Amino acid sequence: MTMIDRRSVLAGSAALLAAQAAPAATAPDTLKAAAAARGRRFGSAFAWAPPGRDAGSFANPAYAALLRRDCAVLVAENQMKWQAVRPAPDRFDFAQFDAMVDWAMGNGFAMRGHTLLWAYSKWFPAWLNGADFGARPATEAARILTQHIDTVTKRYGRKIHSYDVVNEAVDPDTGTLRETSLSRAMGGTLPVLDLAFRTARAAVPHAELVYNDYMSWEDGNEKHRAGVLSLLEAFRRRGTPVDTLGVQSHIGLFQPTTDAGVLAKRLEPEWRRFLDRVTAMGYRLIITEFDVRDRGLPAAIGPRDRGVADFARAYLDIMLSYPQLGDVLAWGLSDRYSWLRGFEPRPDGAVARGCPYDLDLNPKPLRTAMLSALATGTRRAG
Ligand code: XIL
Repeated sequence: MTMIDRRSVLAGSAALLAAQAAPAATAPDTLKAAAAARGRRFGSAFAWAPPGRDAGSFANPAYAALLRRDCAVLVAENQMKWQAVRPAPDRFDFAQFDAMVDWAMGNGFAMRGHTLLWAYSKWFPAWLNGADFGARPATEAARILTQHIDTVTKRYGRKIHSYDVVNEAVDPDTGTLRETSLSRAMGGTLPVLDLAFRTARAAVPHAELVYNDYMSWEDGNEKHRAGVLSLLEAFRRRGTPVDTLGVQSHIGLFQPTTDAGVLAKRLEPEWRRFLDRVTAMGYRLIITEFDVRDRGLPAAIGPRDRGVADFARAYLDIMLSYPQLGDVLAWGLSDRYSWLRGFEPRPDGAVARGCPYDLDLNPKPLRTAMLSALATGTRRAG
């Protein structure tokens, strides 16, 4: 081959390579675009904070820029919970949540509602745990619950398209339903949950109604998963209007782990059996609170970020293989503002790295893994 021939062959193969790479150049480069390519919405939790505060809030321009780049749907991390909007039995306070909904609507985001009933005493407002329901406790408890759900849902109407109507009603240690002041007054937890869903359905018939919980795919969640399946079966038997299981997806590497991919492969079959049973009952799925707990990984950032990304990729690939999976939401976009920093500090004191952006709001390997998983998942059905 002459020099010229060689050069033209090389140039030709370079052109060919470039042509093959061309689709990648147009591949979605934001999480919302990757999700949209498969018929889904990507989103995140966000917070309220006064302007000027370094927080995961829409009023923080740096964080708002991340929300704008990657999200099509938002959810308030805390500001729609009873503790926030219902400071006393006879008083509602929507100031912060209103501001969040206004900002979301003004900037073209869809909005989820979290949560109409966190069915766990630990997260009830103190007044509700200690409530005196009077001479007819069942009636009074039902009144307080119905009034709450009616007031919140009707205030926002079509601005909110999907609600975590009930959150975390199953005790993970036993698989049984948690008791609360409401369940004691109403003679059981199921009647409380039933009433919550029926009230929501009547008030906002357009909205997707979700049962949301944290039964996860790691070892140790067997009873929790079984309890959630029993609850979902009970909803079907009773005709309770529940559309979707919200899979919180605070996934985690808890034990020292050298190969997150190997662990994921081992967890996959049991997790698929769970999802198969949920979808066989006719439920849809959404990922409501995705992040990755990294306690079992070394502190060094390179291997830690790799392990988090690999574990997340394997998990999301499974979830995204279900055409019944709709919205995918992260519980915050940046390690800087993640709840994991306070909820579950690492024993070595290193800051948890479970979100797609780091402490300085730079994208991490986790974001790349999420992008690829969203872009290659099965197309959403329905
Ligand atoms: C968490 C928030 O992120 C924290 O700021 C707050 O202190 C406690 O609640 N499951 C849920 C969410 O359904 O509401 C929780 O959010 C995280 C676990």
